Amino acid sequence: MDSTEFSKKEILKNGFLDINVPDNIDILESIQKLRKEKNAIILAHYYQEDAIQDIADFVGDSLALAQQAAKTDADVIVFAGVHFMAETAKILNPNKKVLLPDLNAGCSLADSCPPQEFKEFVESHPDHKVVTYINCSAEIKALSDVVCTSSNALKIINSFPKDQKIIFAPDKNLGEYLNQQTGRDMLLWDGACMVHEAFSIEKLIDLYKEHPDAEIIAHPESPRHILKAATYIGSTSGLLNYVKNSPKNKFIVATEAGILHKMQQQVPKKVLLPAPAKEDNTCACSECHYMKLNTLKKLYLCLKHEIPNIEVEEELSKKALLPIEKMLNLSS
Ligand code: 13P
Ligand code: SF4
Repeated sequence: MDSTEFSKKEILKNGFLDINVPDNIDILESIQKLRKEKNAIILAHYYQEDAIQDIADFVGDSLALAQQAAKTDADVIVFAGVHFMAETAKILNPNKKVLLPDLNAGCSLADSCPPQEFKEFVESHPDHKVVTYINCSAEIKALSDVVCTSSNALKIINSFPKDQKIIFAPDKNLGEYLNQQTGRDMLLWDGACMVHEAFSIEKLIDLYKEHPDAEIIAHPESPRHILKAATYIGSTSGLLNYVKNSPKNKFIVATEAGILHKMQQQVPKKVLLPAPAKEDNTCACSECHYMKLNTLKKLYLCLKHEIPNIEVEEELSKKALLPIEKMLNLSS
């Protein structure tokens, strides 16, 4: 049995390569070497573990990552993020190899929108346009008129005439926020991100009482009661820019805690406090366990063996590409 066969077996079993890396291998050095040899690019989301963000060629929010994927001339894309992000990169690059260090890196929001149910929902509202948040599967994208992310959602929604009926899916919290911002009455799919749903308003208020000089900022995937407490609401890149440009020195940040790494690098003198989660856990914050499935070791192994790689069936890929391209055109 050669090592590739072994790898494929492992992938089928676990969704990632679970083979030993010998002690004499320097993982960081080996990743650098392999990425040059293979003309690979490493794209990472702000929610990835610190070490992955530090070695990535590009770290960004969902929109910036899709834009990078659309314009890269690399032969191999290693996507340090979750499945829908790597799948979007593959749809944009059907002829390139797109690798995801751990295939189990899913998304509760994407899972909250099953394709068959959504198809029936869309078909029962034929006079509605369909706008979907990028956090969804290729099947859902293929049923959409246009895709959006949290950083361009307002622009995308406003590109439709005011009286156009719209279905917005899958995030009900982002949808409700957009309805409030635009004065529209979009029909919302009942999905949510478990990471942002996990914030505790009671603990947030207690933390704010301890730090009354802090400003609360939040991602729009957070529920209404959290957004009400925030003075700024924005995507991960929006939150980063806000903290960088604000005269304030202390922030309580209501999004996945991985963002604090880049944020702290950008504002080393400011105090950043993660918003507390309902459940007690090691970080006392809210972490996306899907995002954290990717590790430096898995990234090294997937780049070395070029597996697990993302495949999207051709017809589906062509259908899903249209609303993604529409988003990219509207965002440029
Ligand atoms: P953005 O990076 O677009 O703000 O999205 C956050 C998120 O939840 C990604 O899964
Ligand atoms: Fe999905 Fe939420 Fe994790 Fe983002 S943070 S990948 S929306 S579960």
